[in-house]
Amino acid sequence: MKKILAIVLSLVLVMACMSVASAAGLVGVAMPTQDLQRWNQDGANMKAQLEAAGYEVDLQYANNDVATQVSQIENMILNEVQVLVVASIDGSALGTVLAQAKEAGIPIIAYDRLLTDTEAVDYYTTFDNYKVGQIQGQYVIDTLDLANTDKTYTIEFTAGSPDDNNAGLFFAGAFDLLKPYLDSGKLVCVSGQTDFATVATPAWKSETAQARMDNILSAYYPDALTGGQTLDICLCSNDSTALGVTNSLVAAGFTTENIPLITGQDCDKPNVKNMVKGLQAMSVFKDTRTLAAQTVKMVDSILKGETPELNGEYDNGIKMVPSFNCTPVFGDVSNYEALLIESGYYTAEEIAE
Ligand code: BGC
Repeated sequence: MKKILAIVLSLVLVMACMSVASAAGLVGVAMPTQDLQRWNQDGANMKAQLEAAGYEVDLQYANNDVATQVSQIENMILNEVQVLVVASIDGSALGTVLAQAKEAGIPIIAYDRLLTDTEAVDYYTTFDNYKVGQIQGQYVIDTLDLANTDKTYTIEFTAGSPDDNNAGLFFAGAFDLLKPYLDSGKLVCVSGQTDFATVATPAWKSETAQARMDNILSAYYPDALTGGQTLDICLCSNDSTALGVTNSLVAAGFTTENIPLITGQDCDKPNVKNMVKGLQAMSVFKDTRTLAAQTVKMVDSILKGETPELNGEYDNGIKMVPSFNCTPVFGDVSNYEALLIESGYYTAEEIAE
């Protein structure tokens, strides 16, 4: 009897230790939405890589709803996560719940999108967001040889969501490079809509970008396909907005023969297909595997009490947040196979028609 009791007791002890061990490695990962392909990849990569490193993961998607994200983070705090990784919907709307996490001693990493107007963020892993816009702007300059041409080109801008700190940086990166050409008249924005607030797309929605482009086309380029005012460039900050703009143009009758040069970001599958078809000129590739790997490394260092690898900092309005910035890469029809297929990011079937 004593022997059985001892065995039961030691089993209970082992189980208790196991649950303490796994609880010690619980990481909360709060993602914005499953609507866009990239966040599904981010979440899946984070979960797989954290689990491979021995952590337990509480991965939540918030359906682009701030209140849902707040309650998911509250639950993570209650569940005593050891580290919080947050890709926010609205970077400035999580102050209260992040303060609770800080109070509970939980380190907080902003993932891809900066957490703004709060003390309660320790680190930031992202890509160089201004550089993303610069890659798009430089592509326009190089492709149309703006530095040397005597021609003038028309351009319309579509930026991202005003509540996402990245959106302003993407837009500024591109606009700062293109502004001299707008000033000299080599680029003309016929709608006159060149300020971020006017060209922004709440929640980065394709449908919103499409509706705005429908309006721009009918108001400023009604005869573009019949010898009237042509539209040459649609500078779009990412692929979801590029998709909306492309759909608008195709619905208006544009084809691969006359579609404006459209930029994007993320190399989402529908956009890669459009690049292959000749409907979208370029995208910027931000390998979510790299961002996840860097974030997992950061989680690991924090939990070991070490200083994580850092290479930059971002101003969140209250403090400078130390960051690790991964490098965004140019992608188009000439390099997508090496970049996306040979690297194992997509299978050839996934982006075949
Ligand atoms: C990300 C982009 C993405 C956009 C819309 C941004 O914060 O950096 O990669 O296209 O959100 O989800």
